[in-house]
Amino acid sequence: MHHFNYVDGRLHCEGVPLEEIAKTVGTPTYVYSTATLERHYNVLANAFEGSKYLIAYSVKACGNIGVISTLAKLGAGADVVSGGELAKALHAGVPAEKIVFSGVGKTRAELTAALKAGIHQFNVESFPEMERLNEIAIELGKVAPIAFRVNPHVDAGGHANISTGGAEHKFGIAWHEAAQMYAKAASMKGINPIGVDVHIGSQIMDVEPMRIAFEKVVTLVRELREQGIEIKRMDLGGGLGIPYSPADNPDSPSQYAQMIREVKQGVDVELILEPGRMIAGNAGVMLANVEYVKERDGRTFVILDSGMNDLARPSLYGAIHEVMPLNEAAADADYKPVDLVGPVCETTDRFQKARPMAELKTDDKIAFMSAGAYGAVLSSQYNARPLAAEVIVRGDQYSVIRPRPSYDDIIALEKQPDWLV
Ligand code: LLP
Repeated sequence: MHHFNYVDGRLHCEGVPLEEIAKTVGTPTYVYSTATLERHYNVLANAFEGSKYLIAYSVKACGNIGVISTLAKLGAGADVVSGGELAKALHAGVPAEKIVFSGVGKTRAELTAALKAGIHQFNVESFPEMERLNEIAIELGKVAPIAFRVNPHVDAGGHANISTGGAEHKFGIAWHEAAQMYAKAASMKGINPIGVDVHIGSQIMDVEPMRIAFEKVVTLVRELREQGIEIKRMDLGGGLGIPYSPADNPDSPSQYAQMIREVKQGVDVELILEPGRMIAGNAGVMLANVEYVKERDGRTFVILDSGMNDLARPSLYGAIHEVMPLNEAAADADYKPVDLVGPVCETTDRFQKARPMAELKTDDKIAFMSAGAYGAVLSSQYNARPLAAEVIVRGDQYSVIRPRPSYDDIIALEKQPDWLV
């Protein structure tokens, strides 16, 4: 469910015609819908009502401070994976006691910043990371609340590049080492082992593989408690899939919550959830302008002003995003196959090959749907292309939450070597 619809033939985000944003802010531009973000957060929160839970929004999905602060207002915490995300979440108003810190490669500086801020939990992914955290915590006179991320050796299905729960993946500690690692953690002065963490992948359409992983986690929680380690929290990561096209039918948040209730029956723990895509994915679109339509060798190339540097998912994962013309008349015209491509000098700068599209012409505008998660955050300035602007809509108002950098802004980040000036 989202709030992007045609009204009087023009595609709107809530009460704002997207054409208006394209005209005033330009393209490429990401547009997020507050009502959709709120709806997704509330659907999930309602599904868990009656349990002790923290929804730690996975900032990596869409890290704009405008989006994080919108969710923080609803009570969301944050799942962060870098010092930068930690700083952004704090700046956006997420209380430190609602922040969990995941990731395999936390640096000394990042651990120090998170300890000083007093975050809720460190999701530790290796023994050396725990040793480092223990050392820093002792130095600072603090105790770090930790969960080990355990690797459950479960295949979640979905795209190989976003699956994380297998033995060959770099994530987490080995299942068979968990008991021993927790015992070591319990003996360290700067460490308080308080939770178990798991995350098996992303865009998971069926909750059954999650059930297998979570059952293993519950078994581990029971064993650790028998061992005398007071586990109070279970962090179940993110991963619930979303529909990218009408044919997609992911399990719903309520099926997900029901499965979790079944799995944890009889075990009193606080749940931590780290949803990213489920909250932000369908709450954002990317607007692009048609620059040229080029007919060549029997193909039609629709060349846009946005490319793989703006929306990388098609080039990285072969992802397909639905496309809606901002003008509905174009959506109803005759369809023919076109290659939708960007301006970047790479063959993979292609959104889709032979996509049936209504005829488009220069300066028509289109929206790539479901681009709210892993869209703007994965963008780069490749080819010295300024990062796309970001805008958030609420009702009939909109606010630019990341202006498009100017060429001067881009140039100001660099300089000639001292010896040439
Ligand atoms: N927690 C951890 C530890 C994660 O690694 C992730 C995502 C999440 C939570 C949030 O997962 P979600 O609820 O969004 O599925 N760029 C890829 C997706 C990468 C996912 C990375 N980890 C894509 O565009 O499909």
